[in-house]
Formats: sequence, structure tokens, C-alpha cells
Amino acid sequence: MSSRKARAVFPGSFDPITNGHLDIIDRGLKVFDEVIVAILVNSDKRPLFSLEERVEIARSACRGRRRVRIDTFSGLLVDYAMRVQAEVIVRGLRAISDFEFEFQMALMNRRLNSRIETVFMMPAESYSYLSSRMVKEVFRLGGDVSELVPPVVVRRLRAMTDGPHRPRGTRRKGRA
Ligand code: PNS
Repeated sequence: MSSRKARAVFPGSFDPITNGHLDIIDRGLKVFDEVIVAILVNSDKRPLFSLEERVEIARSACRGRRRVRIDTFSGLLVDYAMRVQAEVIVRGLRAISDFEFEFQMALMNRRLNSRIETVFMMPAESYSYLSSRMVKEVFRLGGDVSELVPPVVVRRLRAMTDGPHRPRGTRRKGRA
């Protein structure tokens, strides 16, 4: 048997990491020896959390998962995957609406580097509608997100809104 590790990259913005992401990480760990959560450095989207915060939050949320590594990347995802010797990109597929973008991305990545395979994993049904964007919006409008994200995210969101400098888009109507 080969001693080579089956390593997968799970890329994304993770702004912030949600229970849906953690669900995909745990499914990935059933199939791969190691899952690298790769957080995109230069996102077109203006992130709520800085790169350093997203890394810290993801590290804290994944604490105890020994085969998970948190890293950052910029440039092409396939180049990053080659650098870390991962032959698989894992993406969560929630609904048909995700499919078109994910399909384009997977085929573009294959065109860029045919040695890297994309594997789609479906999250638990209860997370099939969950996104970081929606979590931020629900929290901002005073909704309860505590069952949708790990506790560290709730703490960070609260700290952000309770702190002296309220960043854009975090003013809340009420307590979450
Ligand atoms: O969580 P997201 O925002 O859906 O993640 C998107 C991500 C980071 C996976 C994607 O934007 C990406 O891979 N960016 C790196 C640039 C790249 O490789 N582009 C070519 C393939 S589309």
C-alpha cells in the first residue's frame, strides 16, 4: 500500500466559516487523509472579516480536527493545490443554484491543470440553504445565527458590533 497521503484542498472565502463548511470538512475527512482549508487572500467580494480574522476563526472552529490544516492562498487555485501536493479540490454543492458556477469553475480548473480533480460533496440537508452571506445578513438584522455557525463566529460577530468601531454592515437591530 502507498504511504502517499490523499490530500484535498477545500478553498473559499470563509467570511466567516459556517456549520455548512464544517460539515463539508468532516465529510472530506472521511475520504481524504488531510483537508487543507485554503482561504482566498484577494477576494473581489469585500470581506467583513480580515484575512487574519478569517484564519483565526477557522483555526478555532477546526480545533480538535487533527487532519485539518488552515492556510491562505492567492493566485490560481490549481497552482496552490500543486504547491501543497493536493490532487483534489473539494467544494460543497448545496443546490441546483450552485451548480452552474461550480461547474464552470471545475471545468476551468481542469483546463488549467488536468491533474487536479474537483470533488463535490453535499452538506447535510439542514445546511443546504446556508451561506456566509446569509449568516451575515441575518445577524445584522437581529436574527439568531447560533445554530448556523460555530460559537467562535457568534462571539466574533458580537464583538464586532459591540466594539467602538462598528464596521460596515454589522449594526444589529437586536441581540442574536
Ligand atoms: O467561497 P467562495 O467565494 O465561493 O470561493 C471561491 C474560490 C476562492 C474557490 C474561487 O474564487 C477561487 O478558486 N479563486 C482563485 C482564483 C482562481 O483559481 N480562479 C480560476 C478558477 S475559477
